This record gives sequence, structure tokens and C-alpha cells, in this order.
Amino acid sequence: MAHTIVIFGASGDLTSRKLIPALYELSRKGRLPEGTRIVGTSRTEYTDESWRAELADSTAKFVGDRFSEENWQNFAPAIHYLPGDIEQADSFQRLAAYLDELEESQPATRVYYLSTAPRFYQPAAAHLGAANMAEESRAPRRIVIEKPFGTDLDSARQLNEAVHKVFAEHQVYRIDHYLGKETVSNILAFRFANTIFEPVWNRNYIDHVQITAAEEVTIGHRAGFYETAGVLRDMFQNHLMQLFTLTAMEAPARFEADSVRDEKVKVLRAVRPMREEDVVASTVRGQYRSYRDEPNVDRRSNTSTFGAVKLSVDNWRWQGVPFYLRSLKASSCRTTQIVIQFRQPPHLMFDTESVKTFEANRLILQIQPAEGIQLQFQTKVPDAGMKLRMTDLDFRFRTKFAGDLPEAYQRLLLDVMQGDASLFSRSDEVELAWGIIDPIQRVWDSSSAPPLGLYAEGDWGPVTSTAWMQQQGRQWFDLCPVLH
Ligand code: BG6
Repeated sequence: MAHTIVIFGASGDLTSRKLIPALYELSRKGRLPEGTRIVGTSRTEYTDESWRAELADSTAKFVGDRFSEENWQNFAPAIHYLPGDIEQADSFQRLAAYLDELEESQPATRVYYLSTAPRFYQPAAAHLGAANMAEESRAPRRIVIEKPFGTDLDSARQLNEAVHKVFAEHQVYRIDHYLGKETVSNILAFRFANTIFEPVWNRNYIDHVQITAAEEVTIGHRAGFYETAGVLRDMFQNHLMQLFTLTAMEAPARFEADSVRDEKVKVLRAVRPMREEDVVASTVRGQYRSYRDEPNVDRRSNTSTFGAVKLSVDNWRWQGVPFYLRSLKASSCRTTQIVIQFRQPPHLMFDTESVKTFEANRLILQIQPAEGIQLQFQTKVPDAGMKLRMTDLDFRFRTKFAGDLPEAYQRLLLDVMQGDASLFSRSDEVELAWGIIDPIQRVWDSSSAPPLGLYAEGDWGPVTSTAWMQQQGRQWFDLCPVLH
């Protein structure tokens, strides 16, 4: 069956930076399903030709030397444009008629991609319903909703309700682009396609887990969004929560959307709820020093650009194993990593100097950049008595597999077209994740909030964060990507 991808917010940044380059790449690799059409709509008065011309320039910029005029010319005829206002019912009537005409010869699966500001999600869903555009008797109809999905539990519930008035859950694809990253899917392959890791993946062998997303970027010109979001809404509720559930979940029986999501939901349900005093004891917040000088940031802003949260998971596998989630802007480097810190050996027979600084095994899943995995273990230093030293085994995707890892949106767009929702968040998952973040955010916004530690650009967060870990007898693994 043919496919029509309708992009609302076609003139926006996400469309030119991510969506069209991803579709172009799929077309270049011959992976875009035959007969795929892309229809852009927004208030800007483009024609097919003028939109294509603008997209040719932006795509060339974003895909770099993978752009060629010949490939673009093969791809561009699939692109169409119809001006319309997402707040006006008659725009949807016109769009419906336009799509019916375009698909006249052959019914097509439709993907409605909301690449718009979040305030338009509800009206867009309602208008699609009123124009009878969600109805599936001729072909599947799917809606893709970008993050942020709500700003707290209440708003996420409201949005789910509004969307469900028009679309059944199987038609809804909530994007978290982290799930489209190859290294994130690889967590499942690593854990559940190998026999040797799963037996040690529990409280008997693991001391704790650190999940860090550090970014060099500051918030730049995004104050409008970031001042009301902060690090918890921007990075924790979605991306870090996804990495956490994939690391902590049980093995699903089948690799299909609901089996995978059922297991993730079980982990979220097992997270120990936090009362106010728990939030004060189990979280650290920070702000990079020049944040208040960024354009449009309130000079007295208390928005956190650093956050660390300790989660406890109340189940048999993880009882007593803390999961430390941490994210920061203005770090010295960009790295997203999951560090599995194993326990110390039960008894050390080596009576040497190196035992004093002994470090236990560590497994590092390097999500990005330099995607790969590192296993750290102790080795005898040759020709030096019984001296021990930490060494490592490294695996790098780039050296084992030819070509660059594809951008997350390529995988995600293909999956929506094919109706595979495994890498998208289900309504209960999104709400449970907000249910974990909301109580923390509430305390952070109140007078009982833990102190906001300032940190210099290039640091790994405020000194309070290092001290907090030390009080727990642990240490952050503060290393810029272990693999290069
Ligand atoms: C976005 C956040 O969802 O993810 C940004 O809004 C963040 O603040 C970005 O920079 C990180 O994505 P990636 O793929 O660069 O790790």
C-alpha cells in the first residue's frame, strides 16, 4: 500500500532539519516505500516548487556530502505542499479533499505528523476528527506527536484524552527520538540476544547504575521553551526515563510493541514514589553560571540546567540497587552513557598497593557519540609482581559495521509507515513517567527545593553533586566518551 505523510508545521525547523533529511536519506538508500508522498502544510504560502527548492538547500546543508542533485531529483517529485491554518476547520476540509484527490487511484496509509508547537496538538487532533480524517475503513490512519507530550501528569492525561476522542491508541505514535537511536535499540539486543550478560544483570552483581546525558550546548536561544521546562521536563521525563526502563526491564516474550511496552511500564510502576523529604535527599539540581545572562532568561531564574535523581526500584531484580539519572547542559563534552557498576569481589586475596585503589568491573554502554560498549576489568600488570590495573575491551559500531549510523528519524518514520509502535511511547508509559517526575518538579518549584548549585561551563555539574555521591560511598563516572 502507498503512504502519504502529512507534515503539519511544514515551514518549521524540525521539518527541514530532521524530517525531510531523514526521508531523503531513506529514498537515497532505496528504503522509502514505493509510492510514498509527502504533503507539507503550514500557514506559509509556498507552492510545491518553492517548498521543494527551499528543502533542497536545507537538506543539502544537513546531510552534507550524502546529498547529490541526482538523488534529490529522484526524491523531490514526492513532495507536495498545501497552505493551511491548523486552527481553522476549513483548512482541514481543503486538506482532506486535496489528499483524497492525490490518492484517488490508490488508497494510502496516512501518517499525520504534528511537527508543530505543542499548543496545536489538541486542536489538530480535533480538526482531523471533525474532517473525518482519522477513520480507517479505506486505509490505516496514524498520528505522530512530538515531544513534549504535556508538561505534567494532568496535561499529559488531558492530551491523551483529547487525542483518544479521535484516534484509537493503536493509531497514536508518541515520539521520543532517543528510541530511534541504534545504540538505544541495541540495549535490547545486548541484553536479550546474548546469554552471558543477563545472569549478572541484577542486585547480586550490580552495585548501582549511572545514566548520564551530558551536552556541551547551552540553551542558546531556546529560553522561551527552556525557562518553563528545565532539565526534568526536557531530558528526564522522556529520554532518560527511556534509557532507564530499557536497562531495568525484564525480557519481553516477543519483540512487538505491546510486549516491550508492557515490560517498560512494569519498571515505571516499580519505581518507589518520592515524598517531599525523599526528593530533598535523593536529588541534586544545578544551573550553569552564565545561564541567567542568556537572551530572554530571567536574571533571577531558578530553572535547573543540571539534575541528578536517584531512583529506587522495588522489585526482586533491583532491590537495593540505585539508578542515578543525570543530565546537564554546558558540560565539557557531549556524552550519553549508561554505566553498570558491578560490585566488589567478595574477597580480595591480593595484598598489594593496587588493592587500596581497587575498582570493580564496569560496563559502559556508550549511547553517543562514538557509539559502542566498553567492559572494564582488572588485569595483572606484566613483569611487576602482583600489581593490578584496570584495562578494557572495546566495541565500536563504526569499526564493526560499514557506514554511519542512521539518524533516529529514519528508523522512526519507517516504523510509523509500517505500523510498528515498539519504539514509541504508549499513553500509560508517558503518564507513569510524568507520575515520577511531577513530585520532584513540585518540590523543586517550592520553598523546600534542594539548593540550586551553580557550576562553571565545562564542569560536570555543581560541587554538591560530587559531594552527594560521596556521601553515599560512590563516585560519578565523569569521563568524556570512553570510546572515540
Ligand atoms: C531534545 C531536548 O529533546 O533532545 C534538547 O529538547 C536536547 O534540549 C536534545 O539537546 C538532545 O538530543 P540528542 O539526540 O542530541 O542527544
